[in-house]
Amino acid sequence: MEQPVSASELYGGRGIRIVSGQGVTVRDEEGREYLDFLCGHGAALFGHAHPDLRQALAEASASPWTIGMGLDAPARRGFLDLLASLLDGGEAYLANSGAEAIEAALKLVLLLRPRRPRILAARRGFHGRTLGALALTFNPHYRRPWKDALLPVEFHAVEELPGQVDERTAAVFIEPVQGEGGVFPLDGGVGRELSAACRKSGALLVADEIQSGWGRCGSLLASSLVGLDPDVVTLAKGIAGGLPAGAVVWKACHGGFPAMSHGSTYGGNPLVCAVALRGHEVILRDGLLERSAKVGSYLRSGISRLGHPGIVDVRGMGLLVGVEVRGRSAPVVRALQERGLLALPAGPQVVRFLPPLTAGEADCDRAVDILAAALNEAE
Ligand SMILES: Cc1ncc(COP(=O)(O)O)c(C=O)c1O
Repeated sequence: MEQPVSASELYGGRGIRIVSGQGVTVRDEEGREYLDFLCGHGAALFGHAHPDLRQALAEASASPWTIGMGLDAPARRGFLDLLASLLDGGEAYLANSGAEAIEAALKLVLLLRPRRPRILAARRGFHGRTLGALALTFNPHYRRPWKDALLPVEFHAVEELPGQVDERTAAVFIEPVQGEGGVFPLDGGVGRELSAACRKSGALLVADEIQSGWGRCGSLLASSLVGLDPDVVTLAKGIAGGLPAGAVVWKACHGGFPAMSHGSTYGGNPLVCAVALRGHEVILRDGLLERSAKVGSYLRSGISRLGHPGIVDVRGMGLLVGVEVRGRSAPVVRALQERGLLALPAGPQVVRFLPPLTAGEADCDRAVDILAAALNEAE
């Protein structure tokens, strides 16, 4: 067992205290400003204190914030309908986080495919840290202390997954773009093969869009960009602009949850749903899907153009960007922070940027300059 860290280190080991922020910028208690390309691990999808989201929050706060599961509310109904429309004949369930969405998806596939013992997931995949989600998460470091308590899941290299799907397979869990595992977009050919293999065998294809979805990769669902035709989709992070929210959407032709078989006190509370709906309106009004694709590709080309010897690869989709560095990513992330740019690692050698959908080309230019300076120092 490794030395335990204090709870405050689990949250807050970076040594700065953020006290304010607006748009793509946050400020610490000493008044230092940071360009925020970390954005609460991608959850502050619209940047900080977005005026439309603030207005939606203020309006919704004058009505009941949370109503429990049995009662309905226009905002909840509206958000459920919007989510359901993402898949043909879709149905949706609302939770409060990514891991909760994965737990619900896992319960659903176990329910819908009861006599199939195999659950498949990808090596390098990340699906969360609660016990069900952890069973689907590959990283041995995250799994080790609880390995004997986890549901059996088979891990395969992404490109080998289609060949592994058979009539004994209940479900395959896959990220359209692996985020935490190193920012690897799924190859479109593999995505199509996997979709076909699942369709043929009756296995359920679960696309984990918790990081890739809601515009981050340039489309509401990144599945459509990588050949995936999912039966189930999980969403979270930015779907409510950074308020706690998670969702599962599935094709109702497969069935659904029986009465009282799942639920959550806070899931789909009207406050969060109202903000989520306004966020979606902003995405459409401001063309944020196109913007994410365009600005993301601008950022990736800017980094590639540096031609820096410390950079091994630049990859990603839309505003989910990974820079594989020659050494370790953690010191680079620290050096970026010291220079006023917040980023996060994606595995030991990849620096990940998750700018908000509202970031512009000038923000990217600044980030590229800071990255070049940080890498020069590391040389
Ligand atoms: C693809 C993916 N799935 C699941 C999760 C878990 O989400 P949460 O941290 O909200 O539980 C994450 C979080 O990073 C994620 O990136």
